[in-house]
Amino acid sequence: MLSYQFREGVHIAFNESDVVITTPYATRLNSIQQSLHIDRPTDALKILLRDLLDRGVSREQHLELLGQLEGFYTKGLLSVELVGLEGAAISLNPVKSLLRRKNAPGGDYRVRFSRFVNVQPLVDGLEITSPLSSATVRLKDQRLFPILMQLVLACDEATLKEALPIDLRSHYADIISLLLSSDIAGVCDGQGVADIDQEAVEAGWTTEDLAFHCHTREQMIDVCRYQAIPTSNNTNQLPAKHQRIILSTAALPSPSRINHNLSFFQVVRERKTIRRYQEQPVTAAVLSDFLWHSMHIREEILCDPGLSRAYPGLLRPVASAGALHSIELYLCINRCIGLQSGFYHYDSCNHSLGKLRDLGEPCLQMLDLAAASTCRAPQVASVSPGLGQRPDVLVVMSARYGRNASLHQQTGLSYALILKDVGSIYQQLYLVATALGLAPCGLSFGSSELFEQASGLSSRLECSVGEFMIGNPLSTDGYGLRAGSDLRP
Ligand SMILES: Cc1cc2nc3c(=O)[nH]c(=O)nc-3n(C[C@H](O)[C@H](O)[C@H](O)COP(=O)(O)O)c2cc1C
Repeated sequence: MLSYQFREGVHIAFNESDVVITTPYATRLNSIQQSLHIDRPTDALKILLRDLLDRGVSREQHLELLGQLEGFYTKGLLSVELVGLEGAAISLNPVKSLLRRKNAPGGDYRVRFSRFVNVQPLVDGLEITSPLSSATVRLKDQRLFPILMQLVLACDEATLKEALPIDLRSHYADIISLLLSSDIAGVCDGQGVADIDQEAVEAGWTTEDLAFHCHTREQMIDVCRYQAIPTSNNTNQLPAKHQRIILSTAALPSPSRINHNLSFFQVVRERKTIRRYQEQPVTAAVLSDFLWHSMHIREEILCDPGLSRAYPGLLRPVASAGALHSIELYLCINRCIGLQSGFYHYDSCNHSLGKLRDLGEPCLQMLDLAAASTCRAPQVASVSPGLGQRPDVLVVMSARYGRNASLHQQTGLSYALILKDVGSIYQQLYLVATALGLAPCGLSFGSSELFEQASGLSSRLECSVGEFMIGNPLSTDGYGLRAGSDLRP
């Protein structure tokens, strides 16, 4: 028999003339937990509410209040558990405030797990989740674990029944209803695709992308889930400015304004990816301007002053979510007039380069990976795969994850915001490079392992998240425009 109980996070206040049910759900817009008001509840309803709080109830026990019970169920307020001879067997635990009860269809049908499920071992069983589901399912009785294997592929009723322990076979309809209602499993089409997966499979979503997307773009929040996330001891301890231990400092020439005479709109119009470089390498002066106008620290500020979560932020030419600026620039300098080749950290506070190591094997491999990922631009016959040149300078962006996590561990948005910051920096580097007459190219591929070897930092603390190439554009391919030379307004 199925037993219904209020899920974790539901609170009830019994007042004189009404009852207020606080749900575990809030929204990104309004973090106050949503609530339901019941005016003048009958005594029978009060008993039902108390029973749902204290111990489970069955539908049969409260036939006269089935409508109310169903209402709580569809609002995602009730956990449902099936008990067998060996205790709790399987449960459904809603995670969204909308749940639809589904039963097995009539006739011949096959069911399977969604392709996007994830199984997590917990102390009281295996929890099955999916980014598309409105509830999780927990297999509590180990005798049910074999159904995990059965439901990986389309499975008919007889096969699934056989996989159940004998005492639970008579509850087959309830078990299938829990699996279907949670959207953890679906009814298959002729190709063996579950109905719940159809659109995501057609669109080509990968499991990792769908989980990341759904997690970071959800509107409705299950407050309990966020409270359960262990918080780091490190909160607010990572300083805004990042100083590295370096071998030596290479001063950069002061930023200049010479030749920066393109209007902003000319720069926007002329911006394009250039993947071919001249013999003549970039100069330290141009590199200095490139870094200054992209990433130098203008000011250190206090964000959210007056709030307990006040934290140090930075202002730079480029924008960053929450002014966190957790992205650091590292430079693989292959060749640059006025600077030794090597691997450097950009000290965006002092506008200088801190040398970390000579251009050793990891750096050379990063440069080769950059050259190899240089592709034929869709719109011009510029470079074919395999013919890419090593750039004069490979800019590697790394993220200090802990800095974002100090603010966003609870919201779960840390990595999504890091990637958005990376996009913002890509565009800044493109525009500044164009204004300076450099050849810019953002890259899709990079290796966190190579960056770890080159930087000597654990990727758990600082990981590479983006790469960008620059050099002097090859003039013969029509790209070699210097800033302010040929460009018409
Ligand atoms: C995030 C991002 C990743 C990119 N990855 C690569 C890459 O791996 N190799 C490459 O040659 N170009 C890469 N590019 C450049 C694009 O191919 C280029 O922007 C696109 O062809 C449009 O050309 P345009 O920049 O000249 O307008 C990337 C651009 C961005 C913004």
